[in-house]
Amino acid sequence: MCGIVGMAGGQNVTPILMEGLRRLEYRGYDSAGLAVINGGRLQRLRRMGKVQALQEALNGNPLSGASGVAHTRWATHGKPSEINAHPHTSGGIAVVHNGIIENHEALREQLEADGYRFASETDTEVIVHRINYHLARAGDLRLAVSRTIGELEGGYASMVVLSDAQPDALIAARIGTPVVVGLGGDGNLVASDVAALLPVTSRLQFLEEGDVAVVGRDSVRIFDAGGREVQRPVRVSEQTADSVDLGRHRHYMEKEIHEQPAALTRALANRIEDGAIADSAFGPEARSILAQTAGVHIVACGTSYHAGLVARYQLEEVARLPCAVDLASEYRYRSPVVPENTLFVAISQSGETVDTLAALRAAKELGYLATLAICNVAESSLTREADLTFLTRAGIEIGVASTKAFTTQLAALLMLTIVLARQRGIGADTERQIVNHLAELPGLVEQSLLLDGAIAELAHEFADKHHALFLGRGALNPVAMEGALKLKEISYIHAEAYAAGELKHGPLALVDDDMPVVAVAPNNELLAKLRSNLQEVRARGGRLFVFADPAVEFGDDDGVRILRMPAHVQPIQEPLLYTVPLQLLAYHVAVLRGTDLDQPRNLAKTVTVE
Ligand code: M6R
Repeated sequence: MCGIVGMAGGQNVTPILMEGLRRLEYRGYDSAGLAVINGGRLQRLRRMGKVQALQEALNGNPLSGASGVAHTRWATHGKPSEINAHPHTSGGIAVVHNGIIENHEALREQLEADGYRFASETDTEVIVHRINYHLARAGDLRLAVSRTIGELEGGYASMVVLSDAQPDALIAARIGTPVVVGLGGDGNLVASDVAALLPVTSRLQFLEEGDVAVVGRDSVRIFDAGGREVQRPVRVSEQTADSVDLGRHRHYMEKEIHEQPAALTRALANRIEDGAIADSAFGPEARSILAQTAGVHIVACGTSYHAGLVARYQLEEVARLPCAVDLASEYRYRSPVVPENTLFVAISQSGETVDTLAALRAAKELGYLATLAICNVAESSLTREADLTFLTRAGIEIGVASTKAFTTQLAALLMLTIVLARQRGIGADTERQIVNHLAELPGLVEQSLLLDGAIAELAHEFADKHHALFLGRGALNPVAMEGALKLKEISYIHAEAYAAGELKHGPLALVDDDMPVVAVAPNNELLAKLRSNLQEVRARGGRLFVFADPAVEFGDDDGVRILRMPAHVQPIQEPLLYTVPLQLLAYHVAVLRGTDLDQPRNLAKTVTVE
């Protein structure tokens, strides 16, 4: 899940590489490093921790060069440390790598027998020594890289190589994870992610699987897996180098929570026409595909999976379509039975999550009607590979905890539900009514954000706890799951979610006065049932925190804190609206606990390893 960026340029490339690393830091932040060719010699600087630590080291020890590579790491093999930080070197060669080499132990033994000495615990170091070995025999860097690639096992091992033997060009290879070349005016770049290139150029060439590229200052040559020189199309990115300023906010997560009304407005823009959702919102071929759709299979990870779970309730209830939802990491190793005319839907903020991508690729072989990507990042692998694409337009999301990406996914899935329901004859009036409810969402979220102060105060009740339980029913059950995920990932408080009806089947045993229980309680047909479940908690001395509809009366007592939502909302709006206070709760608890909440320990924003 590491980030890689390199440049063969006319002038000093270090500032461009450092800006690229800052934009890639969401991929991993255990350590960072760069290498440049300066006066014909390879020079390297690495630091444990964040890109800022590398910047500070550079300030005291400037490195400059007209070509270079840089890396931000999420540790897989070998702990986070300076010696394990990339680039790894062998003689005058430096390598930055994203992925896993499964046969690294065998290669290491062979290299040690050949006299190579290892400086790190990483799997990556075998790559650079093997390139060194082959370069000594082949005398050509591209050939040495290709021969090395032929020896590697493990699907995910994209890399960029810099060598003093060929100082004015980089060799980039795509094995499993994306590699994109950026065509600049004064030099060319290569990176694991478009985001790193956008400050310099929006003219891009995506490498295809097995491609090896020679990226020079004035030219880029690409060779396919068979070694034939090929042309890859030049595309102009639709993305902008969005501002990554925090503005008045303390953290990106806070900023992104508060951006939700604007993000939702963007997600809806131009997609509603005369009280109906335009089919074209899902791509030019959507109309005929959606007309044939007889069932939906949603696959995703983490927060995106929770969005899929919410959508299942809505697709079944509103569109009367069967819907299955799977975790991508499980789906890819199952043998799913695919009913005729089933639409496969992959949901992902980044569009690069390796399990979701693998699930999409597997689905393409399984006879689905078509595949649809619901994604926040244009030109991501997911959007390039799916038949249909719906961009959620949340804008760049930097905090590891997904917030605006989730609520815009919910809006996207609601639009999909409406279009599919239309095909199944819900009628123009019902559609208009649901579309109106959809259009109200940005304003309603704005109102929910007014709870910020009250939730900041409530957060004190959680700050010293070790565990918390989240309860919901119906489509609010996945909302409770999302609330628990937010709390655990950024505050490190162990949090679990349960369908409230499941409580007495096990988790009630955990409830005591030290276990806060959070419930989401809209005023819907499940409220009476939820009340009974909450009584079960109170009867065991559990402390309850209920986010409730303004009209719902709960017998207040010392052990119950009620936080009233600013407005009554429609059932179809409930999942999205009740998510917002749970995001705020997690945020404020994490602030009180002083965690690094935008970059929580052990996590990365985009998960490009299995
Ligand atoms: O980019 P994706 O939506 O595919 O990412 C999936 C998960 O890794 C992601 O949602 C993760 O669970 C978030 N950190 C949760 O906040």
